[in-house]
Amino acid sequence: MIKTPLTRWFDLDTPVFGAPMAGVAGGELARAVSLGGGLGMIGVGAATPPEWITEQARLSTEADVSFGVGLMAWVLADRPELLAATVAAEPALVSVSFGDPAPFVGPLHDAGIAVATAVNSRADLDRAHAAGADVIVAQGTEAGGHTGHRSTLPLLQEVLAATDRPVLAAGGVATGAGLAAVLVAGAAGAWIGTPFLACTEATTSPAARERVRAASGDDTVLTSAFDIAQGLAWPDRWPGRALVNDFTETWHGREAELRGDTRAAEWVRRARADGDLAAAPVYAGESVGLVTAEESATDVVRRLTTDARTALERAPRLLGRANTIP
Ligand SMILES: Cc1cc2nc3c(=O)[nH]c(=O)nc-3n(C[C@H](O)[C@H](O)[C@H](O)COP(=O)(O)O)c2cc1C
Repeated sequence: MIKTPLTRWFDLDTPVFGAPMAGVAGGELARAVSLGGGLGMIGVGAATPPEWITEQARLSTEADVSFGVGLMAWVLADRPELLAATVAAEPALVSVSFGDPAPFVGPLHDAGIAVATAVNSRADLDRAHAAGADVIVAQGTEAGGHTGHRSTLPLLQEVLAATDRPVLAAGGVATGAGLAAVLVAGAAGAWIGTPFLACTEATTSPAARERVRAASGDDTVLTSAFDIAQGLAWPDRWPGRALVNDFTETWHGREAELRGDTRAAEWVRRARADGDLAAAPVYAGESVGLVTAEESATDVVRRLTTDARTALERAPRLLGRANTIP
């Protein structure tokens, strides 16, 4: 057990938040993270039907564990039905990231639901404060999926110095020692995605799992190429961190040319339909090199917790003291 202000708030055994990952984190993954003592988040994508949220949430409700839902602000602007389905599912926490959360905080608070939002810059933090977000996720560029350009540790420290709200560190936390590090830095927990990509409960395809397990941390690229090729309305300021493949080797850095290139668009469309990872995106963060096994997310959460405790118990030695933690 590890206690922080957020484990007390959400009645958790450990400050591990299973990050929302559209296309990867459904109800099974969220439930498995929560069964390990953390809080699992369901990831809602741009095209997710609202009924899916209802179905996936039920898995946690039936198992009598808490869960959260991760929404994207730029999607909610056009799809308010996603917010309605989320509120009806009664999650403990909802994240509204990638855009201004302000319009959505009031309805969530009215329903008694806590709101988190990811910040990728110091300016984003001011917007999160103005919106009334309860929990700040400091998301560094090391993170898998869509993210910003600041690195996790300096962003985390700057955010901690400028807020009195609980902060979760996101981007690159993949071991117990890494979890202990961000807790000692002052975070109230970690928002963890990439280490769950190859878990048995994730909806990742078998081929993508294999690629994730084989990849090293050198094999990712932060790119808008996939979004441009698919004509997605992702705002420019959030490119996505994905595994390098033939498509990114061909198109990353040539975004202007890529816009309107119908052959490139068709290449990604067909690859996604066929599961061809030469051109389909596999979003993953720099910690992907530490993901080598396919295991239950419950076990991953338990290991992170045990190893973080071990690291925290060792910390007093740095001060020349014997272990003082029982
Ligand atoms: C495959 C994938 C999909 C993601 N989808 C979402 C999403 O739908 N909503 C969201 O807020 N963040 C999304 N993220 C970002 C995560 O919430 C989180 O910030 C990130 O995974 C943390 O860093 P890490 O990958 O280094 O653990 C996604 C990340 C990945 C790897």
